[in-house]
Amino acid sequence: MKKDEVGHNFLARLGKTRLRPGGKKATDWLIANGDFNADKKVLEVACNMGTTAIGLAQQFGCHIEGVDLDEQALEKAKQNIAAAGLQDKINVQRANAMKLPFEDNSFDIVINEAMLTMLPIQAKTKAVEEYFRVLKPGGFLLTHDVMLTTEDAEPIIQQLREAINITVTPLTREDWKTLFLDCGFHNVDSFHGEMTLLSPKGMIDDEGVFGTLRILSNALKAENRQTFKKMFRVFNDPDKKLNFIAVCSQK
Ligand SMILES: C[S@@+](CC[C@H](N)C(=O)[O-])C[C@H]1O[C@@H](n2cnc3c(N)ncnc32)[C@H](O)[C@@H]1O
Repeated sequence: MKKDEVGHNFLARLGKTRLRPGGKKATDWLIANGDFNADKKVLEVACNMGTTAIGLAQQFGCHIEGVDLDEQALEKAKQNIAAAGLQDKINVQRANAMKLPFEDNSFDIVINEAMLTMLPIQAKTKAVEEYFRVLKPGGFLLTHDVMLTTEDAEPIIQQLREAINITVTPLTREDWKTLFLDCGFHNVDSFHGEMTLLSPKGMIDDEGVFGTLRILSNALKAENRQTFKKMFRVFNDPDKKLNFIAVCSQK
């Protein structure tokens, strides 16, 4: 890993396009719960290279605003959106989840994958309050994060922080639900399971056979091998103290 490079940028450099703990399976659950159609106004927070936004625009024809803090990821998103011919459907810009550049009550759906886990608890609350503010009444918030299956998880959290080079704060299922309820959401429904980000099946589901082979051949290069092994071990921990959680909440 390059000095200061965070885990999702490392994986993106290897060729990974979905940078989330429960992969496509969890995203598909969120999408099935989001009530998407062509008339819906959608905000994707932490859109990174635009993988989900492009999939949504192709599947439903809806309009999507994407925001992320990472300029380089946004440049890549712009290239991917142009390559897919979706410039009239998707607009991306640099913005912070905690201070969104949108009016109150302006979106039908907010989707935010693999970002809240990275924030300390007060920042999580601030971001979720912003999602509540910009959603229309009745709108859906769709999130996807890392979930603790036990209270006794400090060692594995520490290993995760070291492996991905970010001070992450995953929560238990109850604490994730409480976060959304405390910010005013109701009908909070969730789906959880084993993390698939770096499992062989999860990688093939997310990236296809050729995509997975390309990622693995990059991962095995001398300069990447150590970091990949460290991440692989944490994300495939046999004790399963870390799961993914997908949550659908309604304003
Ligand atoms: C693990 S990646 C997930 C990317 C994408 N959502 C996915 O699931 O593939 C986390 C993303 O969150 C973005 N991010 C982190 N903090 C943010 C914030 N406060 N506001 C907006 N984006 C943020 C990062 O730049 C990065 O692109």
